Amino acid sequence: MASPLNVVILAAGKGTRMYSDLPKVLHPLAGKPLLGHVLDTARTLKPARLCVVYGYGGDIVPATIRGDDIAWALQAEQLGTGHAVKQALPHLDPAGMTLVLYGDVPLTREGTLQRLLEQAGNDRMAVLTAHFADPAGYGRIVREAGKVTRIVEQKDAIAAERAITEINTGIIVAPTAKLAGWLGSLSNNNAQSEYYLTDTIAMAVADGLEVATAHPHHEWEVLGVNSKLQLAELERIYQRNYAMSLAGAGTHIIDPARLDVRGELTCGRDVVIDVNCVFEGKVVLGDRVEIGANCVLKNVSVAEGTKIQPFTHIEDATVGADCRIGPFSRIRPGTSLASDAHIGNFVEIKNSQIDQGSKVNHLSYVGDSTVGKKVNIGAGTITCNYDGANKHRTVIEDNAFIGSDTQLVAPVTVGAGATIGAGSTITRDAPAGELTLSRAKQTTITGWQRPVKNKGK
Ligand code: UD1
Ligand code: CA
Repeated sequence: MASPLNVVILAAGKGTRMYSDLPKVLHPLAGKPLLGHVLDTARTLKPARLCVVYGYGGDIVPATIRGDDIAWALQAEQLGTGHAVKQALPHLDPAGMTLVLYGDVPLTREGTLQRLLEQAGNDRMAVLTAHFADPAGYGRIVREAGKVTRIVEQKDAIAAERAITEINTGIIVAPTAKLAGWLGSLSNNNAQSEYYLTDTIAMAVADGLEVATAHPHHEWEVLGVNSKLQLAELERIYQRNYAMSLAGAGTHIIDPARLDVRGELTCGRDVVIDVNCVFEGKVVLGDRVEIGANCVLKNVSVAEGTKIQPFTHIEDATVGADCRIGPFSRIRPGTSLASDAHIGNFVEIKNSQIDQGSKVNHLSYVGDSTVGKKVNIGAGTITCNYDGANKHRTVIEDNAFIGSDTQLVAPVTVGAGATIGAGSTITRDAPAGELTLSRAKQTTITGWQRPVKNKGK
């Protein structure tokens, strides 16, 4: 292929059948806008110029999708795919080739585009085509004596042309200077009164160029999103592919059909992931980590040997080795757990450091806290970190034991080895090594009678 490479991504359409206020290309697939997927694939080709044609929704598209490497071309009115590519021309290097991609076709593989590019050159245009059992709606590839001569759109096709099952995926590559000339002489004299990019094929043939074809390995690589249902279908395909590649590399995914990765999931050896887990952002699981059913992990790293039990939610946190977390734990941003920590059911930890071997096993809130080694925090403990205006820290030093149903009113420090009696409200520092408690002494009132119900009059 002649270099340099220009890539143009068409993203001006409204997506009427999405029934949404959001421009179609901004709808997320695996947590990332459709256009983001296409841009990522385009970047693997190392283009000299990368141009996105936007229109519907105005500046929302460039404002959402950033990138210093992107040249934005406004297509104020959507007059057709040929008209759209024409808007990109001022941003392209006229030497070399131009590849046209679509912002709503997110799953095309890099290797497929490479094969297409290999077909093209200064005197060769190339079109990515596929044979579809049901070609309805697509442009058809017309061949004479085996050679591509033109593309006819469904709405302009006669019955014999509609019977052709080789379809235009829309993805083409052409020598840029020649493409610019063809785009300049397009007419919109057709069934849709649009300037068709596909009309450049016949122009290329008329100019003596050969039009080569390449094909995707999988049909889903060239499927576009026109509705929420198609978006959901492509999401499943993406997730299935992701699960297969993890499983292929040795992760034990209990059911590949029930895994969702919205970002990047990296797994060590012998990791097990049970059903219905969602991984967002960047998640790293060390060797032998086990994730129970129905967990949600976002921007988390988990060190080797840790077991996370069902229904646990962890966000922006670091988890050490050999911890036991859950079921039903919530670990919020800014938390780091050292190795061997145990966090149990209905425990919420926020912006806290919990050191090695410490346990918070039941029904507690630990926020803005520094917890030392081998601390035991009893059931129902609450760090009262918020006075209504400011947040304050709680410090619990090594080997402290916090009795059940304790409130630690921050700022407060519990010294090393201190014991807090159950049911205490601790408002001042508790000294190391001593028992501190703040509840009234237990008394018994002998002979006390329970009230009895008044007899109705
Ligand atoms: C186009 C092809 C058709 C091919 C099909 C594959 C043409 C004339 N037809 O048809 O041969 O089989 O794709 O899906 O090219 N867009 C703009 N600006 C415009 C028009 C379109 O940015 O003025 C964008 C749309 O947002 C969309 C893409 O280009 O992402 C394709 O446009 P669409 O109108 O859907 O083309 P089709 O009729 O499907
Ligand atoms: Ca389309």
